[in-house]
Order: sequence, then structure tokens, then C-alpha cells
Amino acid sequence: MSAAPQRAKRNPEQKNRRQGKASPSSGVLARALPVTTASEWSLIKSRFAFYGHPQAMSTAPSRKIFVTTALPYANGAFHVGHIMEYIQADIWVRFMRMRDHEVHFVCADDAHGAPIMIAAEKAGITPQAFVANIAAGRKQYLDGFHIAFDNWHSTDGEENHALSQEIYRRLRDNAKLITTRSVEQFFDPVKNMFLPDRYIKGECPKCGAKDQYGDACEVCSAVYAPTELKNPYSTLTGAAPVMKSSEHYFFQLSDPKCGEFLREWALDPSRLQPEVANKAREWLESESGLGDWDISRDAPYFGIEIPDAPGKYFYVWLDAPIGYLASLKNYFTKTGRDFDAFMADPSTEQYHFIGKDITYFHTLFWPAMLHFSGMKVPNNVFVHGFITVSGEKMSKSRGTGISPLRYLDIGMNPDWLRYYIAAKLNAHVEDVDFNPEDFIARVNSDLIGKYINIASRAAGFITKKFDGRLSMHWASAEDPFLVRLRSAGDEVAALYEAREYGKALRLIMEQADAINAYVDANKPWELAKDPANNAKLQEVCSRLLESFRVLTVYLKPVLPSLATQVESLFGISPLRWEDAAKALPDQHAIRPYTHLMTRVEPAMLDQLFEAPAAEADASSATPGIEALAEEIRIDDFAKIDLRIARIVDCEQVDGSDKLLRLTLDVGEGRLRNVFSGIKSAYQPEALKGKLTVLVANLAPRKMKFGISEGMVLAASAADEKADPGIYILEPWPGAQPGMRIR
Ligand code: 2FM
Ligand code: ZN
Repeated sequence: MSAAPQRAKRNPEQKNRRQGKASPSSGVLARALPVTTASEWSLIKSRFAFYGHPQAMSTAPSRKIFVTTALPYANGAFHVGHIMEYIQADIWVRFMRMRDHEVHFVCADDAHGAPIMIAAEKAGITPQAFVANIAAGRKQYLDGFHIAFDNWHSTDGEENHALSQEIYRRLRDNAKLITTRSVEQFFDPVKNMFLPDRYIKGECPKCGAKDQYGDACEVCSAVYAPTELKNPYSTLTGAAPVMKSSEHYFFQLSDPKCGEFLREWALDPSRLQPEVANKAREWLESESGLGDWDISRDAPYFGIEIPDAPGKYFYVWLDAPIGYLASLKNYFTKTGRDFDAFMADPSTEQYHFIGKDITYFHTLFWPAMLHFSGMKVPNNVFVHGFITVSGEKMSKSRGTGISPLRYLDIGMNPDWLRYYIAAKLNAHVEDVDFNPEDFIARVNSDLIGKYINIASRAAGFITKKFDGRLSMHWASAEDPFLVRLRSAGDEVAALYEAREYGKALRLIMEQADAINAYVDANKPWELAKDPANNAKLQEVCSRLLESFRVLTVYLKPVLPSLATQVESLFGISPLRWEDAAKALPDQHAIRPYTHLMTRVEPAMLDQLFEAPAAEADASSATPGIEALAEEIRIDDFAKIDLRIARIVDCEQVDGSDKLLRLTLDVGEGRLRNVFSGIKSAYQPEALKGKLTVLVANLAPRKMKFGISEGMVLAASAADEKADPGIYILEPWPGAQPGMRIR
């Protein structure tokens, strides 16, 4: 376990600030922004102890922190649930960095397992290529929502192979916690593989309904084991599975030393969230006790080989969390850091953000694997709930699914979603509900109405009347306006660290309310009517802009790109937490104000929920039709320049049994030479004179037979054996060579 955090000494200057003495010249301010009383302070301080790490309270030595989010399976695009988790973790990481801690934030694709192996096979590519395709689509989401991982890796990376095998060896040889046992399972005799339960269907043993999965009947709701199905069949081949046994490897969690360690780790009252600890207690204290965990799968399996066990692979859930360490190691290697030293340092802190569905793996298996292999165990696992839409589970067919890319495509601001999700998040395992009306209200009324408006009401006067200069002579440490605003910072910080983001934002918005009350009391637009008020006007607007800057410090973990715009408006370096307490110097010049954020248009929410026709539900796809590729954005599609081409000439290619040579007119005043793998389907003569579709901006490719200047589009079945046909595309009459296809 990691060392207890050191309690930092209170900084005397901060203590003075908290006294909140009003200066005689600031009567209006004092009324608009009442000073925090001593009793309020003792209340706030008592809450600190509850909220989190004692170092959140004041200047403290930098901590070394390793943070992860759950590794997503590499067989699908991100959904909004992933994005919510990443936003939650990203806010925490950004906050910790603003506090000057050293934070390493990594993730990776969870690459292994039977479903990915089978999906790759269906797509006719290797699992490695399949995972690489999925990985290539990740960046647009992460950049789009400002999720700043330091590294994105794959559990199929070499680091993970080595680390997983090493951890296993230590569990086997040092801790003596590995055993083998024969396990009987359904086996597909056609595909020659053991069948995970999800690939077995049959008739319900109770009501006889056909095509039911091996765990429960969708018709009569009966629950049963896959072996109880009548007339079971493999969904992969249709064959009747047979029972077959093989040797499996087990991690012996039933060993009393595992239970003993896990009770100490998981039930330490300062660790898990109370509801997570209760769950762990239930598991740890159940009558049956902890069972041994089956960690092996038989070939064929896309995974990591078990040392000294030919044909056996680690079950994906063994190597997936080790992928956290592998991604960090990969990142450390790339950046010249010492992974082993970092992980061996007892002061290094390790935190995992996860969803509630994978609590068991992260609070039992994972800490036990680490502890008994002599590795650092996590300091904590932060569990969140799911995201719902207007109180219901998201459903594409009901049109309540939120596609993250669609959100970005229709021009919705990523900081709106970050703000909204943060406003709804707390430190509990509660579901977060996305409600369109609530979304509009929170963004337009709170974020823009209360916060952005402070700057937009003041900056114009400063630019127009005072050459962009701020008057800051009033900004002493005792100024009640600043005292109030700055003193909120400690509580906001404690709330961020405790992942009570909703409470943190409420507190920030209370400050914004007080500042807006000051605007209403001082009416800069009235002051601006008479030049005699100029000094007052400059001070009022300067107070507003300084308070806006402080609020921006507090909001920066949630609104990183907005904060960057504000930094540019003020011409200042990136804001850190301690900058809240340092006023801008007198006569500091700001840049002319440009719009910082627009309001949400309600029509955008309608577009967001319009069920997109292209987003077919994979489970209802027609058999034999390959799964859709990673979703792309319209600008990705726009990069591909498709043109109508006339096949002027077509001939056999000597020495090639696949290719035809096409001479194409794409309306460019020259002809193109393109090789196309369509020989099995077309006679050259049949193609001459026809129109087709060419990818016209594909980089020219040097082939054995010459240079190919583009690619002709053609359709084919996923399974070549079922339909070996190749079908080139032909436009409707009227299309002319050179026309662009959009
Ligand atoms: O549930 C999931 O999506 C898993 N891919 C999470 C793995 S988290 C970690 F263990 F890698
Ligand atoms: Zn049934």
C-alpha cells in the first residue's frame, strides 16, 4: 500500500486572506459579496476533512500520480458513456496538474478476446489490423472533447505481453497461487474451438422458444445454463456443439491469504466509495467465499500465450488491467522516464476511473493480482454510474442515442458537454441523466448567463474607453471582493479532488451570482454615459474582469479550451490554481474582447437525437453482411475525392491473374492508368466505354506492372466463399466523366 499522504502546513498568507476584513472604501462590494463568517469557515473546514486528501487544502509538495480510465474493447467506436468517463477523469487530471502535481494519464485499446478475433475474421483481416483500424478512429473523439491522455496504447503491445507473463510467473512461482483443473465446455466441431456462452443458442428448456441465448430466455424470462438448452447450436457455424474437456489455469482466490489481503485493502474505510465498499464486503463475506478464477482460454484465441502452457492463452480480463501498466510503460519508454523506479516508489499514487459494471474485476481480481505478484496496488478505484437519456437507458431504435461524433458534427461545443456532465457528477456510483431541456438551461443560463456574461459586460468598456488597461489599485489582499472569491477556491479545490464536481460548480456559480449582483448594483452601462464616472467605470469593469479571471481558474479543469481563450484575452500564461490568489498588476492590458462562447440552440438537440439511419444496430445486422466500419465525420468523407470515370480502354495484364489495366478519362484532359483486381469478374471488352467511380485523389501506387493512379470502386461479400462476385459501380445515365461524387 502507498505511504500515507503528508499533511501540509497552512500558509500564513492564506490564513489572513480567510479573515476577510473589509476595506473602508468598498461598501458596495461588501454588501454584494458578504464576507465569510468564522462559523461558516469552521463548517467549510470540517467538510475538507471529509472531502479528500489533506493536501488539497494548501500549498503542498508535488505528488506523483498515475491515472487511467477503463480500457475500451477494440471492437467498436466510442459511445457517450466512454466520453463521460473520460471527461470525469480528464477533469480530475487537469485539476491535479493545475495544483502542480505530476500526473500521468493513460489509456489503451482492450484488444484481446474471442469477439474481436471473430469480428476480424468476418472482416477478412487479422485481429491486429482490426484493432489498428479501431485505434485509428479514436483520436477524433479524444481531441474533439479535449480529453488529454498522455498515451494511448494497446493491450496487444509488447509491454503487455511481457508484463502479463511476468505477473503470471510471480503468481505461480512466488505466491503459489496458480493451479490447473479440467473444465468441460461446449466445443464447435466445425470451427474447432471452444465456444464462449455468447456463441451458443438453442431452444428454451422451459417454453421451447427458438434461438435463445444460453443464459436466459427472452420470451419467458427463464434463467438456465447453456448446457440446458435444447438442440443447441453454434452461432458461428450452425453446428451442434459437443461437450469436451480441457485443462484450464486458475488464479486461486479461494486461498485464505487472498481473502485476508482483500478484506484489508477493499474494506479500509478511507479507500473505496461507501457503496462500492459495501458491494466488496458482500462478495468477500459471502458464504461461498471467493472462488478460484479461470484465467485461461484454449487456442484459437487472440491473446497472450501462457508461459509453459502450449496452446493456452490468458483470458482477456487477466491482461486487460495489466494494460494500464503497459500503456504507462510504453509512454515512459517513449519519453525517457524510468517506469520501474516510478512504480517502485511508495509515494506514487495509482487511481483507476471505471464504470460500475466492472467493479468486481477492479476491486478483487486486480488488487489481488498486483499484491501477490509484488507490485504496487491501486490507491483507489473511482466508480461511476451509467449515462441515461431523460431517465431511460439509451436506445438507438428509440432515437435517444447520443453519438459523440454527431454531437461534434452539428457544431455543438465540447465544453458544453463537459460542463453539463461535470454539473451532474458526484463522487457516488449514481447514473448521470442527460436531459435536453436541462442541458440547454445549464449551458445557457449558468455557463453563459452567469459566467461568460461577466466578461462580455465589462471588456468592451475597458477596450473602448481605457485602451484595454485595467485599474487594479483596489486589489489588496484584504479587499472583500477578492477575499470572498479567493476563499471559495479552497473548497472548490477540495470538491474537485473528491470528484464532487456538481458541488464545485454550484459553488463557483454562487460566486458568479454574487458578481452579477455587483454588476446590477453598479450598472457599468449607466456609468459609461457620463465621462465624470470614468474612474469608477474603470474600477468596476476591472473588478469584473479580475473576478472573471479567478472564476476561469476554478472552471479551467472543466472548460480547458474556453480557459485557453480567456488566457489569450488577458494575454497571460496558462492559468494554474495558485493564480487565483495573484491579482493582475495595475495597468495590465487586455486584448479586444471576442466572443467566447455561443448559446445552445434548442434545434441542435433535435438534430442530436434524430435516429441516424446509418447507425444500424450490430445485433440485428443481416447475417453475412460485415459490420460497419468506425464512424467517420463528414470532413473525413470530404477528404476522399470520388469522380465519375469513363473506361476508355481495358486490357489483360500479362503475368497477373487478378488485375485488369484500365485507361480512364476523368475529365482532366489526360488519361489515367489504373490497375484493378477485377479480372475474375469481368472480360475487358465488356467494360470498354462504361462509366464507373474512381477514388481520384489516392496517392499513386507503384506496382509490379506500372503505376496505378487511383482506385475503381467495387462491392464484394464479406465471405468470398459464399459469394465470390465483384461488382463495380456504374452511375445513372447523365453522369459525365470528371463529375465529383458527394
Ligand atoms: O468493460 C470493458 O469495456 C473492458 N474492456 C474494460 C477493461 S478495463 C481494464 F481492465 F482494462
Ligand atoms: Zn422460454
